[in-house]
Amino acid sequence: MVHNGIIENWRELAEQLRTEGHTFVSDTDTEVIAHLVERELSGGCSLAAAVRATLREVRGAFALAVMCAGEPGTIVAGRRVSPLIIGMGDGESGEGLLASDIPALLGRTRRFWVLDDDQVVVLRPGSMLVTTLQGKEVEPKELHVDWDLEAAEKGGYPDFMGKEIHEQPRAIADTLLGRLLADGTVELDEFRITDDELRHVDKVFVVACGSSYHAGMVAKYAIERLARLRTEIDIASEFRYRDPVLDDRTLVVGVSQSGETIDTLQAMREARQWDAKIMVISNVVDSSMAREADGVLYTRAGPEVGVAATKTHLTQVVALELLALYLAQLRGFAEPADARVLFADLARLPELVERALAPGRDAEVAEIAGKFADTRDFFFLGRHVGFPVALEGALKLKEISYLRAEGYPAGELKHGPIALIVPGTVVVGVATRTHLWEKMMGNVAEVRARGATVVLVANEGDEETAAQADEVLWVPRTHPLFAPVIDVVPLQLLAYHIARAHGHDVDRPRNLAKTVTVE
Ligand code: M6R
Repeated sequence: MVHNGIIENWRELAEQLRTEGHTFVSDTDTEVIAHLVERELSGGCSLAAAVRATLREVRGAFALAVMCAGEPGTIVAGRRVSPLIIGMGDGESGEGLLASDIPALLGRTRRFWVLDDDQVVVLRPGSMLVTTLQGKEVEPKELHVDWDLEAAEKGGYPDFMGKEIHEQPRAIADTLLGRLLADGTVELDEFRITDDELRHVDKVFVVACGSSYHAGMVAKYAIERLARLRTEIDIASEFRYRDPVLDDRTLVVGVSQSGETIDTLQAMREARQWDAKIMVISNVVDSSMAREADGVLYTRAGPEVGVAATKTHLTQVVALELLALYLAQLRGFAEPADARVLFADLARLPELVERALAPGRDAEVAEIAGKFADTRDFFFLGRHVGFPVALEGALKLKEISYLRAEGYPAGELKHGPIALIVPGTVVVGVATRTHLWEKMMGNVAEVRARGATVVLVANEGDEETAAQADEVLWVPRTHPLFAPVIDVVPLQLLAYHIARAHGHDVDRPRNLAKTVTVE
């Protein structure tokens, strides 16, 4: 048996099973399921009936698959809350496949179905039968997947992360396609929330986890600045337990590349209870969140196999910028003169990210990474939209290099963290030109004065910034609101090259799952 999730009533079930004579070899919720299935099988029923009966008894979140020696060639699987995708190989003897998400199966098949909550599937070579927990047959929902096999291969790169970083210009262009119109307006397809409903909104909550949360932070700056609409950003696992004030004039935007992250999914469900309008920014068509939301805005990054989010993060920021522009379009731009410049700059993002990734630039970052191969502690600083960039740069380094990396808003440094700056501490600062550049450089001076080694992300040709740095990560300049899309690119590369210098598997960092389907 394979189980992903948490069975909440496992202790009481284990207690009962022990009194019936079952002997446990572990202290896990998963083993309880195996014993329950065994109990049903010994009563003479089929594996499918045994799994259905078991799932009627358990509480919690699970996606599981069970096989038994008595029924070779059969897999029975079921789910509640945690996602489960079914794949079928071609032909009569086509293999049955199960996974949490589509990219895991892309190399094996192009035919996918999604299992809904409290459904059970029986897979045999070439056949599949889906039923409810009561055994009633149901039609499984086929998934439309237009990702191709090539997208799930490394294509000459040593790893998926490297390939996915370099796919970012294309991913951004695809995400903008058909949405940023030539007449200088934004059109959002698949949106399913009417313009009138959006005009009625008086508050936006963005909820997300990890890199998606960092993308969501950018939305707060963009929506408040462009549309003058109050916007809050919340970590999804905190949002649902803190009694947020929501009503039918609230728009809750879940940001999740997978569309399956349990914390974000449950936060959206919580918001639904308060009559809020729900929309999701997801990379996976028909993901659980996409199916449940009132509106969907798909990022079109293609499958992301590397555990560290790169192209999905950038396209999330782009999608959120589109949402901010759309809201401003509906409600009137706070500064109408802005609109034309913004549209032009947004359209240029693919080209600018391409420039940030040019072979020469990549080699420069690799060389800088080489100099820090022995550094154990990093500080990442930024202000305004540079703050989420600093957090994302720090997260990338933590998760694939296993190095301590702290992201801070630079202005907060003097309130405590500056105590940690000693000669040789490496500080990476986002110092591209925004209205807070001077203040940021003031913070850079503070850490330099304490002997820090300073690496700055700076706009191409900005020698004034470079003069304050030991190393420079050059990026093209854009409108400050879009700078997070470009400024994070050298930080992705820095983390990537440092991790590779340490000999780590950047695609499969330890302790991490691509999609986090447990609380
Ligand atoms: O699928 P999601 O966007 O909801 O995933 C959220 C986080 O788990 C994810 O961004 C995670 O932090 C990545 N490992 C970051 O690289």
